[in-house]
Amino acid sequence: MSAALPLPARLDTQGPRYTSYPTADRFGDGFGQTDLLRALHERKPAPLSVYVHIPFCESVCYYCACNKVITKHHERATPYLDALGTEIGLYHKALGGRQPVTQMHFGGGTPTFLSDEELTRLMGMLAEAFDYTDDAEVSIEVDPRTADPGRLAHLRRLGFNRLSFGVQDFDPDVQQAVHRVQSYESVEALIVSARELGFVSTNVDLIYGLPKQTAESFARTIAQVSALRPDRIALYAYAHLPERFKPQRRINADELPDAASRLQMLRSAIESFGEQGYDAIGMDHFALSTDSLAVAKREGRLHRNFQGYSTRPDCDLVGLGVSAIGRIGPTYSQNAKTLAEYHEAVDRAELPVIKGLWLDADDLMRRDAIMALMCRGRLEHAEIERAHGVVFAERFAAELTQMQAFVDMGLVTLEPRAIQVSPDGWNFVRAVAMVFDKYVRAPGSTARFSRIA
Ligand SMILES: C[S@@+](CC[C@H](N)C(=O)[O-])C[C@H]1O[C@@H](n2cnc3c(N)ncnc32)[C@H](O)[C@@H]1O
Ligand code: SF4
Repeated sequence: MSAALPLPARLDTQGPRYTSYPTADRFGDGFGQTDLLRALHERKPAPLSVYVHIPFCESVCYYCACNKVITKHHERATPYLDALGTEIGLYHKALGGRQPVTQMHFGGGTPTFLSDEELTRLMGMLAEAFDYTDDAEVSIEVDPRTADPGRLAHLRRLGFNRLSFGVQDFDPDVQQAVHRVQSYESVEALIVSARELGFVSTNVDLIYGLPKQTAESFARTIAQVSALRPDRIALYAYAHLPERFKPQRRINADELPDAASRLQMLRSAIESFGEQGYDAIGMDHFALSTDSLAVAKREGRLHRNFQGYSTRPDCDLVGLGVSAIGRIGPTYSQNAKTLAEYHEAVDRAELPVIKGLWLDADDLMRRDAIMALMCRGRLEHAEIERAHGVVFAERFAAELTQMQAFVDMGLVTLEPRAIQVSPDGWNFVRAVAMVFDKYVRAPGSTARFSRIA
C-alpha cells in the first residue's frame, strides 16, 4: 500500500467483515428448529465443516468481543460437554448417520479451558458422529496462558493439525491496559513446539487500535511476531463497542490511539509483513508465501467463511455449542447465546437454534458478488450472469454508479465486464464489497460493525 495514500473520509467508517452475507444481524427469530431440520433434510450430501464453541475463559480481556463466560470453576465444563454430546447426537440423527467432515474448528471463549481429559472426551463424541476425510483440517484456538508444549502434544495426538494462538500485542503496558499479560517467551516456546510436533500450520492473532498502543510500540510487536515465523497472522482492527461489550467499558477511551495512528499501525504492519515474506491474503489476514492460503490466493481459489479465509470450497457448516452459527443449504442459523437457554433447549432434546434466515435468490446472488470481491478482489459480470440468469450491468446499474467513488480514489477499476480491486483497494475491500449489501444501506445500519481502518 502506498504510504502517501490519505485516508479517504468515507473509509474511516464502519462495515461488516462479511464472514457471511447477509450478516448475522439480519438473522430473525422467525427461524427455528423446524426450519433447520428441513434444511438438514434437504441438503445435498457433501463433506461438512463443523464448528464447536467452548465459551469459558478464566479471566476477561477488556477488549474482547467474543461470546464468552468468565469463570474459574472448571467443573462447569462437565454439564456443557454433556449438552454438546446431546446436540451432536441430534445432528447425527437429523443428518441420517455419520457424515464426512473436511474441516473441524474449536473456537471460543477458550477451547483450552477444557482439560486434556475433557478434550479427549469431546473428540471421542465428535468421532462417533463425524468421519474425518484424510485431508481434514482440524484446528483449535489456543490461549497461550492455558497451554504448554505438553498440552500441544496431547492436541496433536487427538488429531488436531492446526493451531491458532491469541497474542494481540507483546507490549507490557498494552497487555496491562487490556488485562491480558503473557510473555513473548511463552508464545515462542509454543510456536517452536508446534513446529516440532508436526502441526501443519500455526496462526497468531494480533489486534491494532488497543489502548496504549503507539505506532512505535506496535512496530516492535510486529517485529517480534515476524521473528517467530508463524505460518499465518490475523491482524484485527480493534472494534470498540462498549455499549455492546461490557468488558470494554473498563478501557479508558482516552488511551485509544486516534484514527491516524491506527492507520499508521496498519500500514507499517502490512509493509513489514511484506518485507518478512508474508503475503496479504485479504482483510485482516497474512500468510507466508509458501503457505496453502497464500498459494490459494495467488491461484484465485480463496473462500471465506465464519473462520475467515479458507482454502476449502464453501460447504455446509454445522455450528455446535452456545452462540455457534451454522450454514446449511440456503440457510444460516445461530444457537442460543446464553448457557441457560442453550441447556434448556438441549435438555428438551431440541436443536438449540434461536434465529436464522432462508436466503432468497437476491441474497444468494449478492453473496456471490460480495465473496468474489472479498476473496479475489475481482468480480466478473459473467460469473453472476451464468449462475443467476441476470444481465449484470442492468441488475446492478446503481451499484456500478456507486463504485465510481472508489474508482476516483484509485481503489477500484471498472473494466467493461469486470470490477477489479486495486492493490490499495485490497486493504479496504469490505468497503468496496459493501456496495453490494442491500441491507447495510439503510441510514444508521452500519452502527453495529467495527471500523474499517
Ligand atoms: C476467541 S479469541 C481467541 C482464543 C482465545 N480465547 C485467546 O484469547 O487466545 C478470538 C480472537 O478475536 C480477536 N478479538 C477479540 N475481541 C476483539 C475486538 N474487540 N476487536 C478485534 N478483535 C478482537 C482476538 O484477536 C482474539 O484472539
Ligand atoms: S480474548 Fe480470548 S481469552 Fe480473552 S476474554 Fe476473549 S475469548 Fe476469553
